[in-house]
Amino acid sequence: MLHSSAEIQARIDALGPWFHNMELAGVATAPDHFLGNYPSVKWRKFADVIPHDLSGKSVLDIGCNAGFYSIEMKRRGAERVLGIDFDEAYLAQARFAAEIADCEIEFRQLSVYDVGALGETFDIVLFMGVLYHLRHPLLALDLIRQHVANDLLVFQSMQRGSKETLPVEENYHFWTHDLFERAAFPKLHFIEHRYADDPTNWWIPNRACTEAMLRSAGFEILQHPEDEVFFCRAAGEAAGGGAVYPAKGPSHD
Ligand SMILES: C[S@@+](CC[C@H](N)C(=O)[O-])C[C@H]1O[C@@H](n2cnc3c(N)ncnc32)[C@H](O)[C@@H]1O
Repeated sequence: MLHSSAEIQARIDALGPWFHNMELAGVATAPDHFLGNYPSVKWRKFADVIPHDLSGKSVLDIGCNAGFYSIEMKRRGAERVLGIDFDEAYLAQARFAAEIADCEIEFRQLSVYDVGALGETFDIVLFMGVLYHLRHPLLALDLIRQHVANDLLVFQSMQRGSKETLPVEENYHFWTHDLFERAAFPKLHFIEHRYADDPTNWWIPNRACTEAMLRSAGFEILQHPEDEVFFCRAAGEAAGGGAVYPAKGPSHD
């Protein structure tokens, strides 16, 4: 157990740097965050679309980072909250934050690509701020739909480009060209090197692309409470047969 603010500050410093700014017993983890008081400023804009009483519900927080959203779900009474992240340093922050918040949450090191290994489904899946960090973003959505999303999905992505959407046709003629010049056509922008100094920012969708990918993975968009946030329900199969599981062979190196 930790006690004084000085002790808590020392643990925060030892576990840093932090992406989530949280008040742990009055001590801020990332007071100089480049996005302000993040993710509180984001959470405030969509908190009301998530049921306030999560009694009896299970929640999976994918890419949980320091556990800000996991803790919020537990505070709403969720029976079981599992936070996964592939970065053990963030999970150590999450365990510490949950301890200080007095929340019983399980945190496990796992990549989104391995959610099938969990062998269970969840009433609410949070997939926030992870899609654009993935080299294989649609595969991740397909895997989530196939293995863990039983009902609700709360999704967030950084987006760039047009915020408009176009009606989607069932088919386009081979000689259709002008459509691709339109800013509102679904576009997933590929970042070969870095965006915001981060080499893990691989793909940044525009809004139409985010929506199309969610639908294509078998999610119905119920609400769009905030520019980057989509509140969805699992509502059908993923198109194209869904997730793929490439065979692992010997590499050439
Ligand atoms: C921008 S942060 C978002 C954190 C939190 N979900 C939020 O919305 O504030 C991205 C998080 O995703 C995690 N992440 C990135 N790739 C991942 C993967 N393949 N599997 C699981 N977590 C991943 C990172 O370690 C990081 O904690």
